[in-house]
Amino acid sequence: MMELTHDHLPIHLTALSQRYGHIYRLKCGNTTIVVLNSCDIIKEALVKKWSDFAGRPSSYTGDIVSGGGRNISLGDYSDEWRAHRRLVLGALQRCSQRSLHDVIERQALHLNKVLMDYQGRAADLLEDFTLAASNVITTLVFGKEYDKSSLALQQLHSCLNEIVDLWGSPWISTLDSFPLLRKLPNPVFSRLLRVVARRDEIIRKHLDQYKSQDTENENVITGSLYRGIDKQHNTENGVLLTDVHVHMATVDLIIGGTETAAAWLNWTVAFLLYRPEVQTKVYEELCTVLEGRYPKYSDRHRLPVLCSLIHEMLRLRPVAPLAVAHKAIRDSSIAGYFIPKNTVIIPNLFGAHHDPAVWTDPYSFRPERFLEGGGGSTRSLIPFGAGARVCLGESVVKMELFLFTAYLLRDFHFVHPESEGPLPDLRGVASVVLKVKPYTVIARPRAVTHSAEGAQLA
Ligand code: HEM
Repeated sequence: MMELTHDHLPIHLTALSQRYGHIYRLKCGNTTIVVLNSCDIIKEALVKKWSDFAGRPSSYTGDIVSGGGRNISLGDYSDEWRAHRRLVLGALQRCSQRSLHDVIERQALHLNKVLMDYQGRAADLLEDFTLAASNVITTLVFGKEYDKSSLALQQLHSCLNEIVDLWGSPWISTLDSFPLLRKLPNPVFSRLLRVVARRDEIIRKHLDQYKSQDTENENVITGSLYRGIDKQHNTENGVLLTDVHVHMATVDLIIGGTETAAAWLNWTVAFLLYRPEVQTKVYEELCTVLEGRYPKYSDRHRLPVLCSLIHEMLRLRPVAPLAVAHKAIRDSSIAGYFIPKNTVIIPNLFGAHHDPAVWTDPYSFRPERFLEGGGGSTRSLIPFGAGARVCLGESVVKMELFLFTAYLLRDFHFVHPESEGPLPDLRGVASVVLKVKPYTVIARPRAVTHSAEGAQLA
């Protein structure tokens, strides 16, 4: 148990892999946990033997945050779960095809305007990144955008952030392994119950508002989901999806889609402060290739330097560093070791991305490793997991990271405010999401011809 309460679990589990190898076992109360620390071994379990390891361990506290395991991220593998995931993936893909690029472009432009308004003052940008990422997903899900002062958005975020933080805290995770502790007063647990109830109330209000509209809107995910549950009475295996599934899918998408992308952008800016010449190279590439206009996602193949930065950040700081725990659905094996049914599997993505057998100088920030001749290969990157449980938002977020980063680096030069002391601490704080410790930065506008408005006209 000691092993799992470590303050930076991904770093700790990675250090253990140097002692015990790419696959090792931990005992936690009555639970056996197997930790996988290399890309090949993780892929063996999640891709080659996906049907053996597509389960999720059920837990006392997980059931509380997931409506009894009825969401996608924490639901165990079953016919119902498969129908649910298929429904949501279909809705996400349909809405993404229709509007995702436009939605992200609009939010990226808006984010740049917000940063302009700082007029070169040092600021912590996490809240702005969070709002931008959140607006992408709430526009897709509900067809609604919010501004910074929106009470509805603030309430939703403070709830969701708090759930993620509380759920990642040792006060809560120990309750899963030691049932006797559930009988003792635990203020953190009481808080979790209150915040989950609040979250459900807010989501219900949004969904009720959607349902009270006269017209159906299949361009937003909610519309597509409601339509899907109407149609799906006669799917195979007689699975019946209901309003509860729409509710929990909404929670999945909003939680999954906000913190992760915002944390990633904040990491990128923090690392760039350490290597300003990388910023310059990305900026020069954007200027040369795009000749003044903003990029489209289809430009990515012509922007290798920018892509190398994105890959390196996904490698060094996978924002879901331990993915979400899997469970063996039947007896199986990994790397030749017998794995009994019900074993909990932790894919240590952070460890795989720092494996010295694959990555030269794995702890250094070196985007150039992904450029021709640099020795890095995207085949060994696995930030979104893999197989049946691969991140549901992977294609959404790849477009988001690309466009947001390109817009930001085209219009701003990020500078460390000397007066604010040392550069950001890059070790990070690891809960469910790996975040950089708070820091401030100056977003200095680039040349006037590249202002947000100018480019909009271009
Ligand atoms: C699951 C990474 C953004 C929705 C996951 C998993 C990882 C991950 C590692 C667990 C995979 C596994 O269990 O093996 C990331 C990263 C992101 C990101 C690095 C951003 C940089 C998003 C976004 C959304 C999203 C934008 C929603 C639009 C989900 C959902 C699951 C998931 C619903 C659960 C999938 C399942 O259990 O079947 N993500 N994610 N994620 N992610 Fe993401």
